[in-house]
Amino acid sequence: MTALRKPQVALISKAAPFAIRAERAADVAMREALLDACFGENRHGRTCQRLRDGRAPAAGLALSAMREGKLVGTVRLWHVSAGGRPALVLGPLAVDPACRELGIGAALMHQALAAARARGHAAVILLGDAPYYARFGFSAEKTGALSLPGPFERERLLGLEFQAGALDDAAGMIVPTGATLPKRRAARLHAHAA
Ligand SMILES: CC(C)(COP(=O)(O)OP(=O)(O)OC[C@H]1O[C@@H](n2cnc3c(N)ncnc32)[C@H](O)[C@@H]1OP(=O)(O)O)[C@@H](O)C(=O)NCCC(=O)NCCS
Repeated sequence: MTALRKPQVALISKAAPFAIRAERAADVAMREALLDACFGENRHGRTCQRLRDGRAPAAGLALSAMREGKLVGTVRLWHVSAGGRPALVLGPLAVDPACRELGIGAALMHQALAAARARGHAAVILLGDAPYYARFGFSAEKTGALSLPGPFERERLLGLEFQAGALDDAAGMIVPTGATLPKRRAARLHAHAA
């Protein structure tokens, strides 16, 4: 009887549902802790961070995955100019290591991309593993002439067009264009990151 009960408990716990919703101010500490766990505390030195420093994410495009009252996944998108073309950069995407392979990453991606498309954005760019992001339609087909403000692996720079031709002939530096955070808030975030 005991032998049977144990796996049942594990199964029920693994199957706990999750929900994706807009990120809230109360999520920030949990989100930052999750990102530290997934990318390490030196993550603030990564090249893509240069596109996010002191900026707010694009409106409606910061999502949290919640499971049993805990934040277990996050994704955000940011306004950029991709060599002069308006686009969004997606990242970071992260899922709690204890909750992976449950479809939470895919759900965050599908919801974020649907929201970005619905808001009329033309294209999304990211730096990530092509074998993972190909399933959402990302490829390096149109990102070959784009660059980032720091070192990056060329084969990891991927794009997805919502509007056909949005990234045609896109060339040059990807730079942030989103709303800047008020100085006090940016300083607080910086202090938190240090
Ligand atoms: C990548 C990540 C978000 C996926 O989250 P997840 O909730 O486990 O993803 P899903 O459950 O939706 O999908 C799991 C599938 O993705 C695959 N996968 C996960 N990471 C992968 C990678 N780097 N390359 C290729 N496939 C990958 C799994 O093998 C699994 O494949 P299957 O569907 O064929 O079984 C998660 O592993 C993570 O947070 N990783 C650390 C942070 C990171 O690398 N983020 C992405 C770069 S910004």
